[in-house]
Amino acid sequence: MQVKFGNSMSDFVYLNGKYPPAIEAQVSILDRGFMFGDGVYEVIPVYSGKAFALEEHLERLQQSLDAVEIKNPFALADWQGIIQHLIEINTGAQDAAIYLQITRGVMEKRDHVYSREMTPTVLVMCRPVEFPSQDKNTRGVKAITQEDNRWGDCHIKSINLLPNVLLKQYAVDQKAAESILIRNGYVIEGSVSNLFIVKNDTIRTPPKGRNMLGGITRDLIIKICAKNKIVAQEKLISEDDLHDADEVWLTSSTKEIVPVTTLNQHKVGGGVPGPKWHQLIDLYQAYKQSVMRG
Ligand SMILES: Cc1ncc(COP(=O)(O)O)c(C=O)c1O
Repeated sequence: MQVKFGNSMSDFVYLNGKYPPAIEAQVSILDRGFMFGDGVYEVIPVYSGKAFALEEHLERLQQSLDAVEIKNPFALADWQGIIQHLIEINTGAQDAAIYLQITRGVMEKRDHVYSREMTPTVLVMCRPVEFPSQDKNTRGVKAITQEDNRWGDCHIKSINLLPNVLLKQYAVDQKAAESILIRNGYVIEGSVSNLFIVKNDTIRTPPKGRNMLGGITRDLIIKICAKNKIVAQEKLISEDDLHDADEVWLTSSTKEIVPVTTLNQHKVGGGVPGPKWHQLIDLYQAYKQSVMRG
């Protein structure tokens, strides 16, 4: 029996063709996700009961699956059906996030070498979320810089998140919201987010590459800027550029656009969210409304 949405024990999930309550959903200990972290995932925002930018997320899922040689078990329409059904049985019309995970599947014995014929394990969950950047009165967050010690294929949305987990935990232990990752003197992204800076009214974000996750929110912001004739460059950001920026933002599907107002021990800009953030958050909300209406 479902008790109340938001109680993780009573949510329904999708697992390998069934929709059991989360508490009853079980995966084998021989699943390669459990043994090796051998799998990929997506997080998709849901606004008023409707998945947002779903096709973009499913396209990135396909790229991650291709990169690790796991076959996509479903066509686009099947994914859309599963996700919409899950939203309906859990939330109805609420704001939520879909967590979708595909592992390579269950193996007979523990072996690093995989077969390309395995049946993937598919899990989809739907949990309520509050989207924080809708608060125009936010004072912003603190972030700290950290050396990027992750592997070289961060463009794959792998479930192997131990470095990200440790980097994020370190930030929270320092009373910060996020670790901004630096590799060879250049800013890459956050441990769970992409990054933008503003300098002299120009918006800039690092170019996509193997060392960062190409965020859906990042791409949307670039698209919104282009539509509104706002200059947004995809250009390397040095550590000096970061410290010299007028504004710094972190972006992700569940946090949207979050202004960083303290970086390490120093204020960013005036220590309050800057004018470009105010402009972009309004445009982002307007874009969301137009997509969700359409
Ligand atoms: C490492 C990393 N970079 C960037 C992002 C932002 O991606 P998106 O905008 O698609 O949520 C995330 C989101 O989880 C992330 O984990």
